[in-house]
Amino acid sequence: MNQAANMATKGEPSQPQAVRFDLEKVRSDFPTLNQKVSGHDLVYLDNGASTQKPQQVIDTIKAYYENDNSNVHRGIHTLSQRATDKFEAARVTVQSFINAESDAQIIFTNGTTESINLVAHSYARAFLQAGDEIIISTMEHHSNIVPWQLLEQQIGIKLVVAPIDKNGNFLLDEYTKLLSEKTKFVSITQLSNALGTITPIKAIIEAAHNVGAKVMVDGAQAIAHTEVDVQALDCDFYAFSGHKIFSPTGIGVLYGKRELLDAMPPYQSGGDMIKVVSFSGTTFNELPHKFEAGTPNIAGVIGLAAGLDYVSDIGIANIAAYEKELLDYGTHRLSEIEGLSMIGSADNKASILSFQINGVHASDLGTLLDHQGIAIRVGHHCAMPVMEFFGVDATARASLAFYNSKEDIDALVAAINKAVMMLK
Ligand code: ALA
Repeated sequence: MNQAANMATKGEPSQPQAVRFDLEKVRSDFPTLNQKVSGHDLVYLDNGASTQKPQQVIDTIKAYYENDNSNVHRGIHTLSQRATDKFEAARVTVQSFINAESDAQIIFTNGTTESINLVAHSYARAFLQAGDEIIISTMEHHSNIVPWQLLEQQIGIKLVVAPIDKNGNFLLDEYTKLLSEKTKFVSITQLSNALGTITPIKAIIEAAHNVGAKVMVDGAQAIAHTEVDVQALDCDFYAFSGHKIFSPTGIGVLYGKRELLDAMPPYQSGGDMIKVVSFSGTTFNELPHKFEAGTPNIAGVIGLAAGLDYVSDIGIANIAAYEKELLDYGTHRLSEIEGLSMIGSADNKASILSFQINGVHASDLGTLLDHQGIAIRVGHHCAMPVMEFFGVDATARASLAFYNSKEDIDALVAAINKAVMMLK
């Protein structure tokens, strides 16, 4: 029987039952999930940090190295042509996954962090000047704070922080008040890794465009949990990482509007990003190659396409609907634990259960959960300013993926209860 097909008990939030995919089959696709840790069945609840990879992704990478391994865009020989075909086909898969206008607007990077740095270094340095304002929010990941802080020091732009409320809701009205003709750029997460807040990203983008500012969306967390349509969002840039969406580490994507990418100077330089090099001058390659210097992560790119195909086959809408029920169930079960407070209870949330327990340090809890085979992340989640906002130095964070089940949540709750008894 489907693990998630249990009936809801009266008085409790509905338990996950609207699964439109076969959960047991899905779980069997992920070999890592099928192991014991400290003598217990592994319960993997650290998907916000990195997701597991389905066999299909592992097999695709293995097949590439076994059959096609070669460099791309450089060789006349069969293997290089095969590798190039697969590499460029993967770009089209990404284009289609986020509904970009063209595959030329899909730049491969090594992750969200590099995608944001690319925009900070190439776009912002070229088109922003001292006194211009960049808006981020209180709940950004360090990757979407520090690149802009460096620009503050280097070129004198001013960083402005849009506030959140005590539940972690993004305050759209307050944000709108911060926008002015000085605002030249906005860079905001679509889904907070520390709180799970889903931001009103379309409204954020629209308001920024009303004052002529460009917008970058940090989609590192959102990509695996919600449908992303960059044309419908009308964002200027969108960044995400492969490893958060059941694909390899070391591969990421930057989407950009064509006219912006065309106007931007190269970020890194070297092979593949040039047309002609001579000592009297160099001309740069066209998009997307202008931003892809050096031999890329070919296996990563091909593996990313396999990961996105896997997600598309299940359907991101099915995933989001199932995870919402799982999140509601987890929120309810955790609320039954004495002394537990949720950090982040926004009206619109996905995938993240971040919490503190009175008298229990998150890292002690994380260690004791690991002893019971349960993987969560503890700490500041690379989002120290939002921890400061909530007056905590760390939280325990269980982060969900569609291969998690109600039984995983039950195991988490039982393990927390046991750990708390040992720690108090
Ligand atoms: N950004 C990752 C996380 O939230 C590493 O855990």
